Amino acid sequence: MSDATGSGRLWGGRFTSGPEASAWALGVSTGFDVRLWREDLAGSRAHAGALHRAGLLSAEDRDALVAALDRCADLFASDAFPLLPTDEDLHGAIERWLVEELGDLGGRLRAGRSRNDQIVSDVRRWARDACDVVVAGIGDLQAALLERAEAHLDWLAPAYTHLQRAQPVLLGHHLLAWFWMLARDVERVEGARGRLDRSVLGSGALAGQTLGLDPEGYAADLGMGAPLENSLDAVASRDAVLELVGALAILAVTLSRLGEELVLWTTSEFGFARLGDGYSTGSSMMPQKRNPDVAELVRGKAGRVVGDLVALLTTVKGLPMTYDRDLQEDKEPLFDAVDTLGLVLPALAGAVASLSFDRERLAAAADDPAALATDVAEFLVRAGVPFRTAHEAVGGLVRAAEERGTDLRGLPSDVVAAVHPDLPARWDELLDPRAATDRRDGSNGTAAASVRAQLARARTRIGRTATSG
Ligand code: ARG
Repeated sequence: MSDATGSGRLWGGRFTSGPEASAWALGVSTGFDVRLWREDLAGSRAHAGALHRAGLLSAEDRDALVAALDRCADLFASDAFPLLPTDEDLHGAIERWLVEELGDLGGRLRAGRSRNDQIVSDVRRWARDACDVVVAGIGDLQAALLERAEAHLDWLAPAYTHLQRAQPVLLGHHLLAWFWMLARDVERVEGARGRLDRSVLGSGALAGQTLGLDPEGYAADLGMGAPLENSLDAVASRDAVLELVGALAILAVTLSRLGEELVLWTTSEFGFARLGDGYSTGSSMMPQKRNPDVAELVRGKAGRVVGDLVALLTTVKGLPMTYDRDLQEDKEPLFDAVDTLGLVLPALAGAVASLSFDRERLAAAADDPAALATDVAEFLVRAGVPFRTAHEAVGGLVRAAEERGTDLRGLPSDVVAAVHPDLPARWDELLDPRAATDRRDGSNGTAAASVRAQLARARTRIGRTATSG
């Protein structure tokens, strides 16, 4: 069988024939690792510097290599780099091109490094920088939620458990709940970023190298955090990548829940909210339709990000120390997760910003006296009644109202007074949803003053962790 690659490979000296076509096709990674060209070229520039510092490359040769790497970057940036079918991966393609440009000098750059440390260096930098893009995208969504919360801060809305109306809240409080959930998504991505931001070059294939290349010099040149302490760990570990994709999967699930709520709230059954025209879609057959496709796609895309995480976890779980070729499979799920959130976050931020709310429908749904049964029970607790007794007694009032075909407001005052003599005088206020929200005035509660303070705290946290400077 014929050699599938010709002579452009980074290896082959010990073999009498080249790889079979099917084996080559299985291994080629240029189709996706080409996305790492910026990181790979930066690593090569740093490597030229390290070789020079170690006395293995003259200043002129280093400068000629760096200039060639810059020309190479221009080719990639203008989509003009000639990737060939005989290039196994990005690293090999760049070395082939350097040798074509510089002859023997191009072949000096591989000394003391391996594709094992090169690829994980590239992936770490790429993923670290992707964190900043994701956090900015979360920040835009948080800003949209905060703006909608401020504009509707004291509108009454029903809040749910089990998708059954539970208690009235302020719409601002409800919208800010999503804000804080996203604040923890920011923290998770930032946590992963910190662990991604470690330098690995100087590790060689796995055990370090004999050429005096300093790991600290690479870290400084690349603007990466301190070198990982152990060269074996450096080429083998992908836990920080797993952590990022894990954080992205949780984020995608947060966004999916918000998407689901938009789907519900924009139905005619709920009728609480309406998406702007730019974020609504029509039907090809039913002219009246106004569909929330954006929210549904946000919900749908969560599945693929969860799939990316499962793919990565499964790839890594059986691997012994150190580098194993399975690790080539780390890149596509990572790219897909980041790309998917890059689509979802701006669309959802725009959809949220476009939301208008129906004040009357929200207020009507929030004005269910039964939803204030807890308030009546807590009034009794303040009057000295054990909660267990109060709960039972107020349950009896709800039943009595049902039996009379009315609601709590419609109960005769002698029935109410039978539970506690102070109740009738406070009855209307206890069953008023606005008063009920104002009573919940703890710092985390839905009273207007509490929500205003919460909003001020949220404003300082858009796209940031609790501790970021
Ligand atoms: N394409 C490989 C990857 O993405 C690069 C490292 C290959 N190393 C090797 N010894 N074949 O993981």
